[in-house]
Amino acid sequence: MTTTETIEIEKALEIPTYDKMPMALVRGEGTAVWDADGTRYLDFYGGHCVSLLGHCHPAVVEAVQQQAEKLLFYSNVAHSPVRATAAERLTTLAPDGLGNVFFANSGSEANETALKLARKYTGRSGVVAMEQGWHGRTLGSLATTHDESYRTPYQDVLPETNWIPVGDLAAAEEALASETVAAVILEPIQSIAGMQTLPADYVQGLRALCDEYGTLLVFDEVQTGVGRTGTFSMSEQLGATPDLLSLAKSLGAGVPVSAVLVADAVAETVEPGDQGSTFGGGMLAMAAVEATLKTLVEEDLMARATEIHEQIAAQVGPMVEEVRGRGCLLGLKLDQPVDPVLDALRDRGVLAGGSSDPHVMRLMPPLVASDADVREFADALHTALNTAAAPAETA
Ligand SMILES: Cc1ncc(COP(=O)(O)O)c(C=O)c1O
Repeated sequence: MTTTETIEIEKALEIPTYDKMPMALVRGEGTAVWDADGTRYLDFYGGHCVSLLGHCHPAVVEAVQQQAEKLLFYSNVAHSPVRATAAERLTTLAPDGLGNVFFANSGSEANETALKLARKYTGRSGVVAMEQGWHGRTLGSLATTHDESYRTPYQDVLPETNWIPVGDLAAAEEALASETVAAVILEPIQSIAGMQTLPADYVQGLRALCDEYGTLLVFDEVQTGVGRTGTFSMSEQLGATPDLLSLAKSLGAGVPVSAVLVADAVAETVEPGDQGSTFGGGMLAMAAVEATLKTLVEEDLMARATEIHEQIAAQVGPMVEEVRGRGCLLGLKLDQPVDPVLDALRDRGVLAGGSSDPHVMRLMPPLVASDADVREFADALHTALNTAAAPAETA
């Protein structure tokens, strides 16, 4: 099937929820992907911040293949050695104090789980979140489940959210002082907002306020987690440990899986039935998690993430006004609108992403990007910036 045929069929059959790039991908290897017509792209969009180890890392592919031959799936009604091993690896890498895990399938599901656990632990229903924060698209699916036993003690199931400005601890204290707030949820780096890193002293201040007012702190590390920023979680760089920490995108290096890391005190309040997921913790996903985490450590890729950041920052040139983010989660603030630059990059065989700030480009390169990949990206960016900035030719 060609690119054109693929696009026509998807457009005819899928509901139009996505604004897709005009390409149909069929293969990936390392930092590159190829479309149905054989065109190669350097993927600094990282498969939407997912391909931590590059596309089709041999260790992950082999682990999934071997597991597929043994047992594709069994749910959490049974124990599983591959799940036990993945849980061991994950909790070993987790920040101290977050030694318990719940496996799910998507970032939204991980965040919903964190909020449910916080509600049960605190007996409260309020949520405080940051202005510009982004945490997923599901609609508190529990709100529609009729059997009251599943909704108790989570009434009212849709969170009452109070959004506060980042950096304003007085606003946070005002929101928390009512002692009705179950959780404060934040992205340590607000990615979609334009890669804004939350100030460490602000996050530490939130930690102290949460302790004072009996509220749980939730880090949504769906994008920042699993080593992408140079440490396993951003909590290590911010000097504050949350009570609940969500991971997703990079966790299976391309296989759908998410997890919530849970503090002991919270884990002690959890009982069978409080949360569940048919596919969460499935064997294929667990084999991918195990192989991803093993490779991350054995190949010292967290250190490489920081190196890649520094190399990109050194090579992007003066048309980039600011380099934001950490490790392989970067925001480039351009001296011009991003969208034409993204198109010009794609025309040159390079993929990158936009953000809700029209001048900030997002880069989520794999941690296996080579020096040559960074040079290829930087060369393409210089050309794209000049092409996009040039006045259109008149006929
Ligand atoms: C910070 C953050 N949280 C949560 C989500 C939701 O994850 P998912 O799309 O896997 O549900 C995303 C997705 O982009 C995200 O970037």
